[in-house]
Parts: sequence; structure tokens; C-alpha cells
Amino acid sequence: MADLEALKKEAALRAVALVESGMCVGLGTGSTAKYAIEELGRKISSGELTGIIGVATSNASEQLAREVGVPVEEFDCQQFDVAIDGADEIAPNLDLIKGLGGALTREKLLELRAHRLVIIADHTKLVKRIGEKAPIPVEIVRFGVASTLERLRDLGAGGELRSRGGEHFVTDNGNLIFDARFARIDDASALARDLKLTAGVVETGLFLGMAERAFVATPEGVRELTR
Ligand code: A5P
Repeated sequence: MADLEALKKEAALRAVALVESGMCVGLGTGSTAKYAIEELGRKISSGELTGIIGVATSNASEQLAREVGVPVEEFDCQQFDVAIDGADEIAPNLDLIKGLGGALTREKLLELRAHRLVIIADHTKLVKRIGEKAPIPVEIVRFGVASTLERLRDLGAGGELRSRGGEHFVTDNGNLIFDARFARIDDASALARDLKLTAGVVETGLFLGMAERAFVATPEGVRELTR
């Protein structure tokens, strides 16, 4: 069986093939999006693509883009021809959970302005129902964190604050992440709304109705899924 990294790269290459010269491209975050940024850099260096503007969803992706020669602009109010990003869960209708890499807020801000949001992933990210495997990352402000957690638990959320190396994980925006687990999610839109209305919550990793297509790499080849 092809190893997962090779599959992720294959999916990324398929998405970058949609990029044309002169496009404004949203650059995702994570181990799959990394392959897309590298491929974009390769195509720019070889002259296959010209006039590309990239806008990154995280400091790490911005740094990588600069390293591989993708011209990067600050996020302002650009409209993106295409945004290419990974996902943690992909439901059959292309609803997504994102944010296990911690960049969910910037990803959502940018990807809401993309004409086409193209998701790249390996087959392990496919689920029948959203929330089946992954927690829902919820970015929350540090001030009053205990009270925000209480409100989230009142909504039925189990789970915990994300930590890394014994410390709280801190996002590029200086906030914390609560990885929320729910017994079963029957109405993802209602849950997204309730989470978003919770004081202290900045953004959630529920990306509903946003993705236009997904390239999902399987050992049998890359599947192209559309809504
Ligand atoms: C980053 O915050 C995430 O939304 C990533 O896009 C997602 O976690 C997928 O990451 P991998 O491609 O590393 O699995």
C-alpha cells in the first residue's frame, strides 16, 4: 500500500493543477497543504506559473511559502480564485472539521473569501458523519477561560484544552484551543451556531458548506469529490 505521505502529495498535486497564472491563492496549513505550497513554489520557479499571489493561513505556511518562492501578501480583503487546504474530517456532503493544526480561525477568515475551496487529504479523513472521529477544535480567548469552558460543557461538550509539551497550545492569534467532543452530532449547523454564540469563543473548526471539491488520495488513486 502506498504510504500516506505519498498519497497526501498526490492529492496536493491534483489541486495545484487547478491554479493558473495570475491567480490569487489561499495557502492552507498542515502536513498536506505543505505539499501544495511546495508544488506551487516549484511551478513558479520553473516558470510554469507566473503572477501568482499567495496569502497564508498561518505563520508556518507563510514562512514555507517564502522559502519555496511563492510571493506572499498580507491578508486584507482579497478575493481568492482558489484556496487549497487540508482537513481533519470530510463528510459525504463535504462538510469539514478543520483545525487540528491550530490554524482554524485564519483558515476560515481566508477561505470564506475563496471562489473555490479545494480540500486535499488522504482517505483516512473520510467519515460518514461529521464528528465521527475528530474533536471539533474551538478557539477561545484566554481571559475567563474557565467560564468559557463551563458554557461549552453546558452545550454538551466533553474534551479538553489542547496542550503541547505540557503547556497550553497557543494559536497564531494568541488564543487557546478546546478540542470539543460530542456524543453524536445530528445537526452540525445548529451546533456551529451554538458554539459561535458562546461568549469567549472566537471560531470553530466546523467548515460547513464551504468546500467546492476535495481530492482524496486512496491507495487505488485520487478520488475527486464534489458537493
Ligand atoms: C490546520 O489548522 C488544519 O485545519 C489542517 O488543514 C488540518 O488539520 C489537516 O492537516 P493535515 O493535512 O496535517 O492532516
